[in-house]
Amino acid sequence: MYMYKNPATIENIDVLKNRNYLFVGPNSGSQACGDVGLGRMSEPEEIFENIQNFFSATNKVNNLPLLNKKVVITAGPTRESIDPVRYITNKSSGKMGYALAQIAKDLGASVTLVSGPVNITASQNINLCKVTTADEMLECVKENIKETDIFIACAAVADYKLQNISTQKIKKISGQNTLTLNLIENPDILAHVGHMEQDRPKLVVGFAAETQNLEEYALKKLDKKNADMIIANNVSNKNIGFDSDKNEVIIFSKENTPIHIGPISKLKISAEIFNYLLTKL
Ligand code: C5P
Repeated sequence: MYMYKNPATIENIDVLKNRNYLFVGPNSGSQACGDVGLGRMSEPEEIFENIQNFFSATNKVNNLPLLNKKVVITAGPTRESIDPVRYITNKSSGKMGYALAQIAKDLGASVTLVSGPVNITASQNINLCKVTTADEMLECVKENIKETDIFIACAAVADYKLQNISTQKIKKISGQNTLTLNLIENPDILAHVGHMEQDRPKLVVGFAAETQNLEEYALKKLDKKNADMIIANNVSNKNIGFDSDKNEVIIFSKENTPIHIGPISKLKISAEIFNYLLTKL
């Protein structure tokens, strides 16, 4: 506050404002010099978001390709309870789905991101639906799917859930060295949307994380889930995929030859994916 409120600072800010410079912050809080109050640098995420908003607002004038289009994306893992303190989940970080949502937003779409539990934040202008289980994810997709142009299932949905969730913490039984949990199949969200008779989005896209036979499995999924495209990535490569900022994918569709993208950042992969989807809309 001491530095920010200094007459020289105030004067300089006025000069820059008069020249139409944009400002982010400052925020209030503790500062490196020990002072507390107004004058703290805004958080990097806030600065980044302000820059993005500035450019997306500027671009709107320039006819963004997904303007007036609705995109629904699932992301992250799902979490299936075993008892009040334990659950089944997987290694998905959600980064790929969040990158797709960001690019769709930047291209002008109205974006709904249906996300399982992750440690990343979405831009404020993305409609975020936070869920935990596969059943909740399906419900949220159903609520938002009407008039959707592009649906992308990027979430790593748990294939199975507990048949009965224990209401009390399951205790270890002495002398018993095995424990059997009965699992039942979760709903397949991508297959549900792919097979919708009414309101099926124009493009239904799935992801496939595989460790082998990418093409064979992707083509089977195209069929089984009635998807228009399956984007396969080889998760056996530890440098890309799960939790990494980079990825390498192949887009499979029924009528086109496979398209290879990467290895590049998940944001760049997302931009390439939307470039391709735009040719199919
Ligand atoms: O069958 P598999 O899990 O490999 O399929 C991957 C694709 O299907 C992904 O797009 C994933 O988001 C979607 N999926 C789904 N609901 C499930 C299982 C997978 O939407 N229960």
